[in-house]
Amino acid sequence: MFLVFQEPQAIAQYVSERLVNLIKSKPHAVLGLATGSTMEPVYQQFCADAKEQGLDVSQLTSFNLDEYIGLSYEHPQSYHYYMNHYLFDHLSFAKQKTFLPDGLPENVEAHCQQYSQKIADYGGIDLQLLGVGSNGHIGFNEPGTPFNSRTHVVALCENTRIDNGRFFESMDEVPAHAITMGMQDIAEAKQIVFIATGDKKAQVMLDLYESEVDEQMPASMLKDHPNALFIIDKKAAALLPAAACEFID
Ligand code: F6R
Repeated sequence: MFLVFQEPQAIAQYVSERLVNLIKSKPHAVLGLATGSTMEPVYQQFCADAKEQGLDVSQLTSFNLDEYIGLSYEHPQSYHYYMNHYLFDHLSFAKQKTFLPDGLPENVEAHCQQYSQKIADYGGIDLQLLGVGSNGHIGFNEPGTPFNSRTHVVALCENTRIDNGRFFESMDEVPAHAITMGMQDIAEAKQIVFIATGDKKAQVMLDLYESEVDEQMPASMLKDHPNALFIIDKKAAALLPAAACEFID
């Protein structure tokens, strides 16, 4: 069930290669993108590989999973800023086709509805990258989010705010709300690449392994997905039984 790599850099190389191959075979692909520490080496590796191979990314469309409410796209902790910093500014992405939820929407309900609709209008997501929170969230779909949800506003769990507080000067600055793609939007992606790295993810990997498909463990929804890869490193796999792991050297 879990592909276990020695370290995050090996995962970055493997995932980057998958992305490059997808884009070569489908230059108009629609990517579902995530932010967070887990994705940093993946984007760094992908930028290096894409440059080295002269990969054309200008025809891609991308949809990010989520954005904090209350942060403008220029705020250094916004996910817009992150994406520009780690990915979009390094390659020739067509920025008008790199979509993220707006952290300062005029009409938040309408904005959420339009975001899911736009994903459908572009034909759905070909490959969705996913990280995972220590409580099993994917996107910002916290435990208990219905599996049939579409893009919506979420009140972030206190432990998610604490986990993400490391990026902010103080806890007071960590937004309380976010907009996230819904569980159903994620489930409809044709291919899912789920990544977890580091010892802080070891407990949630055990929880995920032991969980039934259950809305209280959002990532468990992926167990029912026909084309989901669970890619983790040795530290994240530390509590898993060997029988659940395929070790990649
Ligand atoms: C980010 C996202 C979140 C993160 C998760 C893990 O766009 O959707 O689900 O993937 O919180 O974050 P890191 O990678 O920082 O541990």
